[in-house]
Amino acid sequence: MMRLAWILLVVLIVLCACGSARRGEPFGDLLLTSDSSRHGEEVFMRYCQPCHPGGDAGLGPAINNKPLPGFLIRMQVRRGFGAMPPFPREVLSDPDLDAVVAYLNDLRRQPRP
Ligand code: HEC
Repeated sequence: MMRLAWILLVVLIVLCACGSARRGEPFGDLLLTSDSSRHGEEVFMRYCQPCHPGGDAGLGPAINNKPLPGFLIRMQVRRGFGAMPPFPREVLSDPDLDAVVAYLNDLRRQPRP
């Protein structure tokens, strides 16, 4: 159990450290900082957009306005919660899920109108 807590802590620290790096080319009207994030946009459009349009609230809550750590996003997606269905690996592969997390991190850093 301690071990898991440490892993989560390390993941969190790494995520926070990466979170402050801003680089990359503008892509459409969004600034996506990596290929993974660009792939994440496609995955997001397919699986998440219907309920979290543009990361905003729809059927689900807004997910572009709060600092959700990656592991929480992954957990929510894998397990589902409330009205959100779970997305098993057969539907959404681990790399696809990583890409969505990268995309959401970028989305959150966009200037809000
Ligand atoms: C069928 C609609 C639906 C789809 C599709 C969907 N979600 Fe959700 N999502 C929801 C709902 C509803 C909630 C709120 C669940 C609750 O807390 O009761 C939610 C909550 C979340 C949360 C937690 C937000 C918070 O404030 O804690 C995250 C993160 C999230 N969704 C990410 C995703 C991602 C990433 C995808 C695509 C892989 C996705 N969702 C697809 C409906 C959906």
